Amino acid sequence: MSKTWFITGTSSGFGRILTETLLARGDRVAATLRQPDRLDVLKARHGDRLWVAPLDVTDTDAVRHAVDAAFAAFGRIDVVVSNAAYGLFGAAEEVTDAQIRHQIDTNVLGSIAVIRAALPHLRAQGGGRVLQVTSEGGQIAYPNFSLYHASKWAMEGFVESVAQEVAPFGIAFTLVEPGPARTSFGQGLVSPPPMAVYDDTPAGAVRRAVAERSFAIYGDPAKMVRAMIDCADGAEAPRRLLLGRDSFDRVRAALVERLAALDRQREVALSTEADD
Ligand SMILES: NC(=O)c1ccc[n+]([C@@H]2O[C@H](COP(=O)([O-])OP(=O)(O)OC[C@H]3O[C@@H](n4cnc5c(N)ncnc54)[C@H](OP(=O)(O)O)[C@@H]3O)[C@@H](O)[C@H]2O)c1
Repeated sequence: MSKTWFITGTSSGFGRILTETLLARGDRVAATLRQPDRLDVLKARHGDRLWVAPLDVTDTDAVRHAVDAAFAAFGRIDVVVSNAAYGLFGAAEEVTDAQIRHQIDTNVLGSIAVIRAALPHLRAQGGGRVLQVTSEGGQIAYPNFSLYHASKWAMEGFVESVAQEVAPFGIAFTLVEPGPARTSFGQGLVSPPPMAVYDDTPAGAVRRAVAERSFAIYGDPAKMVRAMIDCADGAEAPRRLLLGRDSFDRVRAALVERLAALDRQREVALSTEADD
């Protein structure tokens, strides 16, 4: 049975491939992006099954209008995909206050605005699914990505809570957590001028590795998109969908270590109860 989707950030990468794949299988897509003419060819090919609206997710009023208009255009939307985001790449000392605000405005407040705008519609229609794209970096962290991680961990916390609030209305969330994938994400990284003092630190090593492209990126975005669609087609919504072999190993190792660290401090935790 074909579905109707709402997707942010459809100009490139996951959002674009998702849009193309869904249209090819006969679904309907409400696609939003900052430069809507980038979907002109798809629009010409798919006609009314593709609804397109300009949207910069940092504009909360525009998010509400776009979500309202998409539900009005299609009557029902089965899956909302909050995908638009980018990476701020620099040590915490290097990035500017304005860069931090824009990163949080886009990746956190933009995603929250999309979800909040969709909830009343999803409730009114008796339920639906939400895919919030975070990252393996929503569960682990690399140096030089602190603000990006802050944004993705923020969305993980937001979804963990709101999913409990709206489960009674038949609304189910999945946090999609890709590892490094061959999209335009790398080209879209925003980087401040580096500080030489970080050259011989872990942050400097990551900066060099990215600049020299000295690490391989194995994630195939088309396969990842296939997994997202299969997930949304499934009867149950897993809370997390981690994508990528190396990412699986990294997140698993981090969770094992975190659990061990929690167990090591058990006595301290228990010792802080009030005596009565
Ligand atoms: N690729 C990876 O390695 C990777 C790994 C983990 C998670 N992710 C996540 O995957 C999602 C999609 O990224 P991608 O890999 O597909 O990269 P991408 O090809 O760069 O796509 C990012 C999309 O987000 C859009 N966007 C950025 N800021 C926006 C704003 N203010 N308003 C509306 N749209 C905005 C971009 O639009 P413009 O064309 O207008 O800039 C673009 O359509 C993001 O949430 C990212 O954090 C990616």
